[in-house]
Amino acid sequence: MNKILSIDKVSLTYHTKQGEIEALNNITFDVFNGEFVAIIGPSGCGKTSILSIIAGLLKPSKGTVLLNGSPILSPSESIGYMLQKDQLFAWRTVEQNALLPLEIHKSIKDLEKRKNVELLLKKYGLWDFRKSYPNELSGGMRQRVALIRTLAYSPKILRLDEPFSALDYQTRLSVCDDVYGIIKNEKKTAILVTHDISEAIALADRIIVLTKRPSKILNVHLIDTDKTLTPLQRRESMGFSSWFERLWRELNYEK
Ligand SMILES: Nc1ncnc2c1ncn2[C@@H]1O[C@H](COP(=O)(O)OP(=O)(O)OP(=O)(O)O)[C@@H](O)[C@H]1O
Ligand SMILES: [Mg+2]
Repeated sequence: MNKILSIDKVSLTYHTKQGEIEALNNITFDVFNGEFVAIIGPSGCGKTSILSIIAGLLKPSKGTVLLNGSPILSPSESIGYMLQKDQLFAWRTVEQNALLPLEIHKSIKDLEKRKNVELLLKKYGLWDFRKSYPNELSGGMRQRVALIRTLAYSPKILRLDEPFSALDYQTRLSVCDDVYGIIKNEKKTAILVTHDISEAIALADRIIVLTKRPSKILNVHLIDTDKTLTPLQRRESMGFSSWFERLWRELNYEK
């Protein structure tokens, strides 16, 4: 597999009026093309900060981040995101929300890109709802629209920052399957940050465990679940609970 992202000896210190907050300490890991990586760690340890650095929204105090071998100097279109809140605009229809990135990039007249968004809406069961407004959709459908909006600009990597944590448990399981299916179908590389150990095991090829702040990498685990199963099926599969116990212990030891 080709290396798509390379994070090398990255440290980050926030400078605030109250003083310096050392968030990340010497973080090194690579992400490979098509891989699904999850990052877990104690609350406030610096998970979102890592995603912001990868997106080029924050500059590390030390270290380098390379996307396909080149430094990330500014926010890049190659890196999409999905957050806890779907951030759909209430006054825009599903279709208008999904087309927003094209408007922002002044490529709304680009027929190929428009067709791509239409295709995604059709493929993922939202075409019949294209004239609906976000408040007429279920939480799961809203997250699907948010993902399609992110895909409108064909990013190479998706950053997922606790994208399911605002959903109730039942919905979370099915949305998780949906979102995973779309990401795999579209052959995207994904980096997921989550508090939820089960979610990380169900989705990820690899899990990076962080220590409490200032965060270092405590461990990296290659998750050997059956990748032909859906995330929901993996939760029921052999080996799942032993992964859970292992990671739970690791994280609780860290608290
Ligand atoms: N803009 C900022 N200015 C100053 N300190 C910040 C800023 N953003 C984050 N921090 C601090 O840096 C540390 C890491 O924050 P970050 O949001 O990356 O952690 P996290 O692991 O995503 O947390 P959570 O689990 O709550 O989502 C925290 O202690 C936070 O208070
Ligand atoms: Mg966070």
